[in-house]
Amino acid sequence: MSHDILAIGLPGLADDLLTRRAPSLGWTVHRPGPDGLPPPQAAERITAIAAAGSSPVDARLMDALPNLKIISVHAVGYDLVDLAHARSRGIVVTHTPDVLNDDVADMALLLTLATLRRLPAMDAYVRAGRWAEDGPPPLSRTASGLRYGLLGLGRIGQAIASRLAPFAGKIAYHTRNPVAGAPWRHEPRLVDLAASVDVLIVIVPGGDATRGLVSAEVLEALGPTGVLINVARGEVVDQAALIEALTHGRLGGAGLDVFADEPSVPQALSDSDRCVLAPHVASATVETRTAMAERMIANLQAVFAGKPPVSPVPE
Ligand code: GLV
Ligand code: GLV
Repeated sequence: MSHDILAIGLPGLADDLLTRRAPSLGWTVHRPGPDGLPPPQAAERITAIAAAGSSPVDARLMDALPNLKIISVHAVGYDLVDLAHARSRGIVVTHTPDVLNDDVADMALLLTLATLRRLPAMDAYVRAGRWAEDGPPPLSRTASGLRYGLLGLGRIGQAIASRLAPFAGKIAYHTRNPVAGAPWRHEPRLVDLAASVDVLIVIVPGGDATRGLVSAEVLEALGPTGVLINVARGEVVDQAALIEALTHGRLGGAGLDVFADEPSVPQALSDSDRCVLAPHVASATVETRTAMAERMIANLQAVFAGKPPVSPVPE
């Protein structure tokens, strides 16, 4: 049977895969117009949205599609989907968990080590010829034996903790309730976690429940030698407070893959030699992006066939 899909903002690999697969599956792929809305002549026929995690799917867009059945998000995070509205209309929402756990956990480690050991600054130092001219660069900091704290201990958080375990001094985490069976110390208050660790790694879902959790007070508790790593969502951190703390030396450093208003990055962060910046690429490897695109398509296929989706978002 034929199906019409609205593809929104998908990264290259996912968009290509969907476009290549579509004819053999009997699918027609549409794109939104410049107003962000579906082409009016196809709106009635479109029963599915395939959306990038960075593309908002709001009530206005859903209501432009009277026969919408599924929103298949190409990301683990679905904070930009108006879930309440989707539920009120009985629209299924799916995402791509698990397949990206290893890559995101690797990126958390990479940012941690790169920030502590100042790898980008060292690289720039060599390329600029300063090694020969000025001698060795300023010293960096040891990562082994430090106290690591995780804000969030979902699947990705657990993958980060297992990677840290072989070289960390101590590992603790903050979640609302302790995670059953987790071997790490649970800290009931985030500010107490921040005060008791050297590195705080943010790995909670975005959205209203976590917005601004890493506040000025939390950054203050982390302190002038503390390091903040964020591979979750920019909005979880009070970005203005982060800039303030970094600029005035009240925070040791930050490794950031995500920002409050992507793709815009405040000049103060770009100018700071205390941070290491990446353009939201924790899951952006060929292997993982292929697996995410396949999962996005598998969710569409299941729902089109009247079956339960492979990975619906949690209730
Ligand atoms: C990336 O940020 C994702 O949610 O998959
Ligand atoms: C966190 O975003 C997770 O799903 O583990």
